[in-house]
Amino acid sequence: TMIRLEDYRPSDYLIDRVELDVRLHSRETRITATLAMRPNPVGRAGAPLVLDGEDLTLVSLALDGQPLCPDAYGLNATSLTLPNPPSESFTLRIETQVNPTANTRLMGLYRSNGVYCTQCEADGFRRITYFLDRPDVMAVYTTRIEADLDEAPVLLGNGNPADSGPAGDGRHYAIWHDPHPKPAYLFALVGGRLDRVSGSFTTMEGRTVDLGIYVEPGQAARAEYALDAVIRSMAWDEQAFGRAYDLDVFNVVAVSDFNMGAMENKGLNIFNDKFVLASPETATDADYANIEAIIAHEYFHNWSGNRVTCRDWFQLCLKEGLTVFRDQEFSSDTRSRAVHRISEVRTLRARQFPEDAGPLAHPVRPNQYAEINNFYTATVYEKGAEIVRMLRTLIGGQAFRTGMDRYFATCDGTAATVEDFLAAFEAVTSRDLSAFARWYERPGTPTVSITGDYDPEAKTYRINFRQSLPGTEGPPLVIPVVLGLVGPEGAMDEARAERAPGGVFALEQETDTLTFSNVAAAPVPSLFRGFSAPVRVAFEATDAQHLLLLRHDTDPFNRWQAAQSVGMRLVIRWAGSDSPEAAEADALVEALGAFLDAEALRDPAFAALILSLPSEGDIANEIGIGSAVDPDAIRMARETLRRRIGERLSDRLAQLRGDLADRPGTPFSPDAASAGRRALRNAALDLIAVADPIAGVDLAGEQIATATNMTDRLAGLGVLALIAGPQREAALKDFAERFRSEPLVLDKWFAIQATIPESGTLERIAALRQHPTFSNTNPNRVRALIGSFSSGNPTQFNRADGAGYALVTDAVLALDQSNPQLAARLLTAFGSWRMLEPNRRSVAHKALDRIRSQTELSRDVSDIVTRTLAEM
Ligand code: ARG
Ligand code: ZN
Repeated sequence: TMIRLEDYRPSDYLIDRVELDVRLHSRETRITATLAMRPNPVGRAGAPLVLDGEDLTLVSLALDGQPLCPDAYGLNATSLTLPNPPSESFTLRIETQVNPTANTRLMGLYRSNGVYCTQCEADGFRRITYFLDRPDVMAVYTTRIEADLDEAPVLLGNGNPADSGPAGDGRHYAIWHDPHPKPAYLFALVGGRLDRVSGSFTTMEGRTVDLGIYVEPGQAARAEYALDAVIRSMAWDEQAFGRAYDLDVFNVVAVSDFNMGAMENKGLNIFNDKFVLASPETATDADYANIEAIIAHEYFHNWSGNRVTCRDWFQLCLKEGLTVFRDQEFSSDTRSRAVHRISEVRTLRARQFPEDAGPLAHPVRPNQYAEINNFYTATVYEKGAEIVRMLRTLIGGQAFRTGMDRYFATCDGTAATVEDFLAAFEAVTSRDLSAFARWYERPGTPTVSITGDYDPEAKTYRINFRQSLPGTEGPPLVIPVVLGLVGPEGAMDEARAERAPGGVFALEQETDTLTFSNVAAAPVPSLFRGFSAPVRVAFEATDAQHLLLLRHDTDPFNRWQAAQSVGMRLVIRWAGSDSPEAAEADALVEALGAFLDAEALRDPAFAALILSLPSEGDIANEIGIGSAVDPDAIRMARETLRRRIGERLSDRLAQLRGDLADRPGTPFSPDAASAGRRALRNAALDLIAVADPIAGVDLAGEQIATATNMTDRLAGLGVLALIAGPQREAALKDFAERFRSEPLVLDKWFAIQATIPESGTLERIAALRQHPTFSNTNPNRVRALIGSFSSGNPTQFNRADGAGYALVTDAVLALDQSNPQLAARLLTAFGSWRMLEPNRRSVAHKALDRIRSQTELSRDVSDIVTRTLAEM
């Protein structure tokens, strides 16, 4: 059944206070919920009270102290109904029993490696007790947690600790009180044997906050970086947004079985341990960056999500898009803004563009869903963040900050909507944002087609814009175009366009023309600087014009984009031809060489990105718009270009590797500058190895042998993984041996093998599924093997014989009953099947049909398969 935005109505009842008494037991956990309730003044008077519940055993039920017998209420698999609840305030006492050990869905209360934990977003609280499990029902919670002292010496809840002590019989308890009203999806508790790293932060309001990161015993040293990230996040949110923390404690717990990245439960963030634990020997630079970003993300939710929450799940982007924007800004301020922007756009193009172009496309604010957990998507998160960014670009940084202050002030303590968010900015700017709001409603990636003409007599340059969004009807979008002109010598600062004050032009019509005056020579336009809107840009520039931008643009994003554009065009041309002429790449190669000479050592992280080509997936998306995708042809063409670059620049790349090497004894630092040097060194190694695999094997082997950190070790292994031979197998074996008791590192070992672009990979994966350390109950492991294969191995996943599809659909079906959320997520790998060339398309269709024809599919998987197969 579909839930529709237009059907929203307020709850008929409210819950003001919740008292929970949770007696933890591995198989028979008892929960007593005492709910202080009343009819909602804006609800329907006298309506039945329908509480949500799932996989619960009801033990007892009492209304205002009177036990209710079974004929006084209705009970089924998803709800508990009181047909005639009181018309005034009342108290409901509900006793339920659950089995945390049997909870393989990892929603509600479950046990991960012996640690009790919860995940309630979006609708997991109903797996703990019967409740009005919707975000607009907000209550003050007091939680008493009781457990065996031996099994769970640490007991954590939301809010502040209120009391604790022995409970007899080897048991103990802790009471937590959260003064801030919150929806049930922000509830959490943890019980287990955990080590703690402690810190402290004093807010700008003078509150001293006790910080704790809880990890499995023995892992504390690996939590220091996360603790530091918490402290830096707290300081940044005060400085950048004026937001201070609002409780006396802030705890983060790392668990090893977790369906997603992390969760912003009030005062008690629970994390996938992959995004907490780091040491130089086990974590890559990318891991450190992710830990920092996700710690920040969950912390920032304290205001954008918790203090101001969502009225209903259609408003998910209200908290997620905004919070992604906030964590992106944090990372940009902490690291390099240009480098971070490029990586944001790479993620958007890799994950959101294909989603928006395929059968799973949906608006940033969806208007209907069958299963909300399938809408935690790149569109809601990443495109949602782009909308906030566009808003800031259009109204300016100052007005944006004023509007954010107003949003937090007016919506604090409420469950809000996208309209409430926009209203705050309308109020402070006196602008009408109703046309801008179309971004939330319209699925699909718009294309902006652009032509330019120069009038040497008048010294004017005219830019003609046309926006289009095929497949959806409606008036045009408001698209901020940040732009400028570049001449043979660089920026043409004297050129003026009245309608682009500060270099920002708002494209509000389907077509429009912008005229620059005082343009001394024929320019090259630098369009959508900083990727100012999530659109595809169609502008016919020559390679020479792109390369001029690479050399001279003042906007680093567009310098990177210029190199990407030239590479993209070459690869697409070659993918469609039988005999690629590698020399056609030489203008690009030469420009890259000149760039490296001039700038590589000044900003190695940026240089590493300039050297990176569009991914095979990016190229498929680009081709897939007009014609049919053949992943093998794409890979061949792209490798041809990489080889050419590696061959022609080999001396310079080798030289760079030397220049960038750490002096022996330099201690490891995960900071952005050090990471940037490693990134460029490893990009150089990679290109050298494509051009000369024999040298590549030696260099990679040497790098692995001397590596002092996981970034370099894994980069070496990644190079070897692409070169079949005994060295590769020996290195893989050695790696597994060395890290046999490090699950997060073994995940990398699984992933690297799953992405080998060779036909033997299928057998390799089949063998790995039998490996003693493979397990369907650990989502990280499943994602490492199956998810990496489907998302990171385009030629083998899309094998023409369909064996790659069969592997993934088998995995989906094997997981569907135990962990449907994870199964559904794996299945989204088929989201681009309609773009494939006809043979592969029909093979993929059959694989999807096989899933659809199963008799007992979870709602999660059935929703994805139905939408994936639907006519677009
Ligand atoms: N709110 C969490 C976060 O971004 C993610 C929760 C995902 N929940 C889900 N059901 N998929 O930060
Ligand atoms: Zn989030």
